[in-house]
Amino acid sequence: GRLLGVLRDRSVGTAEFRAASDEMAGLLCADAVARLGAVRPSDARSDDVLLVPVLRAGLALLSAFMRGFAGAPVAFVGIARDEGTALPEVYYARFPDALPAVAIILDPMLATAGSACLVAGLLMERGVERADVHFVGVLAAREGFERLAGVIPHSNIGVAAVDPELDGRKFIVPGLGDYGDRYFG
Ligand code: PRP
Repeated sequence: GRLLGVLRDRSVGTAEFRAASDEMAGLLCADAVARLGAVRPSDARSDDVLLVPVLRAGLALLSAFMRGFAGAPVAFVGIARDEGTALPEVYYARFPDALPAVAIILDPMLATAGSACLVAGLLMERGVERADVHFVGVLAAREGFERLAGVIPHSNIGVAAVDPELDGRKFIVPGLGDYGDRYFG
């Protein structure tokens, strides 16, 4: 509640937004660790999880998850939504040769879910089972949440809040603005 309130407040500057986001990332990570099974640095299972931040905004969650899943390899996918069509375009993708069994997609914002579904598809093409693809974010739109829940299991989606709708530009309403712009200033 408190953290979401700070993140939603458009008058909050970079430092305060970043601090609230980092604290939120720690909570989301603790929740993911609880769902996926406790993972300690010494735990072999830590190597069996692939973290997949979606550039840019997903980088805001990465440090917290690299602490929580200490041995986990990291893949990067760069996606930009076309400002006119809101359709996702991949501009960068870098995966390890051999993928772990379980993957966690990190992206604070789930709007249409076009980006998240695209990344889930890339992971499944590379052999990750549908049941082993997870998503962690801060804010989802109801529509995007439902769409992603048609691609990966509902219980694999962890977000702090679900907002009712998307506006004409496919931004989450009430939302919190552009997460990447606000986190990275
Ligand atoms: C935003 C956000 C998600 C995506 C969500 O990224 O960080 O990646 O849009 O939208 P979707 O669910 O409709 O696909 P953006 O294109 O603004 O890129 P950025 O993170 O580099 O700012």
